[in-house]
Amino acid sequence: MQYSTAALPTIFKLIILTIFLLQALPTLTSLSPCRTSCGNIPIKYPFGLDDGCGAPQFRHMFNCTNYLFFSTPSGIYKVQSIDYDKNTMVIYDPAMSTCSILQPHHDFVMTDIQSVIIPPAQDTIFALLNCSIDSPVLNHYKNLCFNFSGHSCDELYGACNAFRVFHLLTNSSPPCCFTGYDTVKYMSMNILDCTHYTTVINTDNLKGIGPLDWVYGIKLSFTVADTGCGRCSQSGGTCGFDTETEGLVCLCSTSGNSTRECAGGSITAEGQSHAPRILFQAFVLILGTFLCISL
Ligand SMILES: *[C@@H]1O[C@H](CO)[C@@H](O)[C@H](O)[C@H]1NC(C)=O
Ligand SMILES: *[C@@H]1O[C@H](CO)[C@@H](O)[C@H](O)[C@H]1NC(C)=O
Ligand SMILES: *[C@@H]1O[C@H](CO)[C@@H](O)[C@H](O)[C@H]1NC(C)=O
Ligand SMILES: *[C@@H]1O[C@H](CO)[C@@H](O)[C@H](O)[C@H]1NC(C)=O
Repeated sequence: MQYSTAALPTIFKLIILTIFLLQALPTLTSLSPCRTSCGNIPIKYPFGLDDGCGAPQFRHMFNCTNYLFFSTPSGIYKVQSIDYDKNTMVIYDPAMSTCSILQPHHDFVMTDIQSVIIPPAQDTIFALLNCSIDSPVLNHYKNLCFNFSGHSCDELYGACNAFRVFHLLTNSSPPCCFTGYDTVKYMSMNILDCTHYTTVINTDNLKGIGPLDWVYGIKLSFTVADTGCGRCSQSGGTCGFDTETEGLVCLCSTSGNSTRECAGGSITAEGQSHAPRILFQAFVLILGTFLCISL
């Protein structure tokens, strides 16, 4: 009888196959440790979906469950778009009132870190609606309200189905205030004494354009700290961080991780330590394939 792999006990082949799978799987998954999109939204530095990807400052802020979500202490907001050239991200709060829907009020709250590294952009305005005449923004803090391209409360209460109710009940229009994020950052809606708010983005060119045509949402403006990520991505790596120390890690596909940049094909001190493992994996891969065919 000719000696062949068929003579090997099946149990032995299964053991080899198991080793093969255990060896091959981490190799395959570590080729792309970080997801690069969620739905149709690309995920790039400084953001990350998987822990250890992106910049540590943005850790635990994102969640991908079919759509991309951004979480703050006041809620989980759907991300509409991210512009990596302008460093902006537009989010939408489904519980917010807009021109077409009136919803119970709630606050927009960010963590201290978020309000520094990803605060609402200058061209996002907060319109505080149905304010009481005792509201601080109509009294002591009235300088926080600004003239929003000549738009008035009456215009909002008149043009929007959702806001018409405010002046139906009383014959006069209750006060409103167009203001910036800093106002709602330091004063909750209860302190502001306004029953509702809405937020409008891209407010730079809204002169003469009515509330029905405004875009409702919140545009956030993020800052990317220069931590040497450019060097890592130029070498073909993905910027990430050590989940324990939060120090920068350059995630490389073939040569393992490095603190700065990927080896880029040539074997460096970093790559050398992984070379025997890669050779062993290649050997097991070939053996596994051979056994698969003969099983
Ligand atoms: C992710 O977002 C979904 C969508 O709202 C939410 O239901 C879920 O709790 C979030 N998960 C985490 C871990 O934040
Ligand atoms: C508007 O505000 C007043 C109190 O200032 C409140 O009684 C009223 O219910 C509010 N209107 C709506 C539609 O919530
Ligand atoms: C607001 O600004 C417009 C010009 O954009 C001006 O015509 C209008 O008088 C201003 N309104 C107030 C109340 O200052
Ligand atoms: C590289 O870093 C990532 C994330 O910190 C980690 O999951 C992975 O195991 C590391 N790979 C190597 C080869 O050290």
